[in-house]
Amino acid sequence: MTQTPSSFYVTTPIYYVNDKPHIGHAYTTILADVISRFHRLLGDPTFFLTGTDEHGQKVEQAANKKGITPLEQCDSTVVRFQDLWRKLAITNDDFIRTTEERHKQIVSKILQKLYDQGEIYKADYIGSYCVPCERFFTEKDLVEGNCPDCNRPVEQIVESNYFFKMSKHQDWLIEYINNNPDFIQPSHRRNETLGFLRQPLDDLCISRPKVRLSWGIELPFDADYVCYVWFDALINYISAPGYITDDQSFQKWWPATCHLIGKDILTTHTVYWPIMLNAIGIDLPKSIFAHGWWLVGKDKMGKSRGNVVDPMEVCNRYGTDAFRYFLLAEMTPGNDASFTEKAFIDRYNTDLADGLGNMLNRVVQLINRHFDGKIPSSGLLESDDAELQTETLAAVKVMERSITEMKLDRGLESVMKVVRACNRYFEKTAPWHLAKEKNIDRLSTVLYTAADSLRIISALLYPIIPEKMNIMRSALGICNNNIEPKLADTKTWGMLESGSKIGDLPSLFPRILVEKTPKSNGGNKNKIKDADDQNLIEITDFAKVKLITARIVSAAKVENTKKLLKLMVDSGNDTRQIIAGIAESYEPDNLINKTIIIVSNLKPATICGNKSEGMLLAAKNGKKLNLITVDGGCNAGASVG
Ligand code: MSP
Repeated sequence: MTQTPSSFYVTTPIYYVNDKPHIGHAYTTILADVISRFHRLLGDPTFFLTGTDEHGQKVEQAANKKGITPLEQCDSTVVRFQDLWRKLAITNDDFIRTTEERHKQIVSKILQKLYDQGEIYKADYIGSYCVPCERFFTEKDLVEGNCPDCNRPVEQIVESNYFFKMSKHQDWLIEYINNNPDFIQPSHRRNETLGFLRQPLDDLCISRPKVRLSWGIELPFDADYVCYVWFDALINYISAPGYITDDQSFQKWWPATCHLIGKDILTTHTVYWPIMLNAIGIDLPKSIFAHGWWLVGKDKMGKSRGNVVDPMEVCNRYGTDAFRYFLLAEMTPGNDASFTEKAFIDRYNTDLADGLGNMLNRVVQLINRHFDGKIPSSGLLESDDAELQTETLAAVKVMERSITEMKLDRGLESVMKVVRACNRYFEKTAPWHLAKEKNIDRLSTVLYTAADSLRIISALLYPIIPEKMNIMRSALGICNNNIEPKLADTKTWGMLESGSKIGDLPSLFPRILVEKTPKSNGGNKNKIKDADDQNLIEITDFAKVKLITARIVSAAKVENTKKLLKLMVDSGNDTRQIIAGIAESYEPDNLINKTIIIVSNLKPATICGNKSEGMLLAAKNGKKLNLITVDGGCNAGASVG
């Protein structure tokens, strides 16, 4: 079977339709969506499949409880997934439900084929059965010999069932995995599967007698049985693209490029599924990638712990793109990751609000002010400009690699590095000074350079935060038919069109303000009261000091000093430079957009060769300085007193 070389087919697991979607489901689906969007922007024919797993005991029980049919039960819960995917801007090309005819027919045909080939046989199944729960358990599942669900004693019963001959394919599978090192990823999961395959494989019981469970696909060769849900569910990956029913489509998409799964369903995907395909006579998918788990803080997430993270709720509170960004930036796909609201807000404020949003603001504001809202043109590049250009183009390569190597967190980190470099570039080139000095040629080059870097950044982030990048691209004056970027254009510098009118200045990622609980000043009260009378000043003395609020627009270390930072602050009336001795207490990047209090009528001074026009207020706590910041959304320039 051949495949168009660049065609790309990615799947998520099909989710149990009875479950309420959580952050784990959201993560895999967003990851698949982002990779699909990248491939589409590269121009690759792309097929992205997700869906729901709808047969089995839990659905049947839930339906019985409500007095409805199992299908009605599925119809009522499948919408939870479909609604969430809409909310998360998921662009799946197909959504398969295992209760659809197109799927059931294929499962039935495969069962018949394998039965005819002698791959399926009937035998007695002996196991530990819990009569009230109507379920078999393995010895491992039992708790002190009792049922793990209801804690009642189990019975050894014998039941006739159908078995799939997995054992006969074991050696073939080991050899296949060894010869195809990229088949199971990351490599520690391949080792896990190979470890599992060191024990002799049991044949797989693929039937359930209807007397116990009737909600399933009937075995075509024995109407007293239905098919085991996993055997049914895995087949979705080939029934959806048209195995048997649509040869052209099936040949276009199969073998799948990647099955994305969570680490807990590794054996079903890397042992059962390859053996099923081998027995049917179909090529194996090119890769199976198992990601880690989302923990909540350090804990496992679970209903019984009451800590399940509801993606819909997070999106409603902070926005879809912020949620998509956090999940991808926070998890290294092979490892576990942790979700906490604090980590979410910190990352949002640092990367998106103070980083990307702030940079776009600065560029658009200056272009509006000094170039009548039109993208200026670039003159001769100086070393600072060339450096930013090189860093931006390097991030393109890292991002590209991060997609193929499934290391999206690294790709995003490289883009954020460029965002920080852009902010630093502004400190160095100080376009506000260039404007004051009327050095329009240089100002034009600096603003063009920053804007073109933002164009490339917006294209690289487009698959991850599409809605916000649409806004950012129109703010940069990229017109409608180019709003959706071509990834090829990220490799070329200077594609932003000079003279094009920039769009409205959006508030791309408004800062999330966290209310801090005020600390009581306890024993300090008396100390204040007991202050030495001789140090008291008149109100008229205080009135001489003009305190105002100011917003930090940029911050950078003062070269050859340990303690000093060079801040540019917006004082409401002007943008001025303040040299402050806070370098040992603050990282420059963490200061951006903070609203602080400054003494605005201090005589200018030169500190280590740098002009300083004011002084900021900070509290000294041992060696650490804590900036006095202003609560709420206060404008720059408000008087303080
Ligand atoms: N229906 C089967 C899959 C059949 S695929 C042919 C199933 N469904 S599930 O709804 O229980 O799980 C779907 C996915 O969610 C699995 O990949 C699982 O790893 C993932 N997750 C469940 N909890 C998770 C986290 N806490 N974190 C990340 N993903 C986790 O299994």
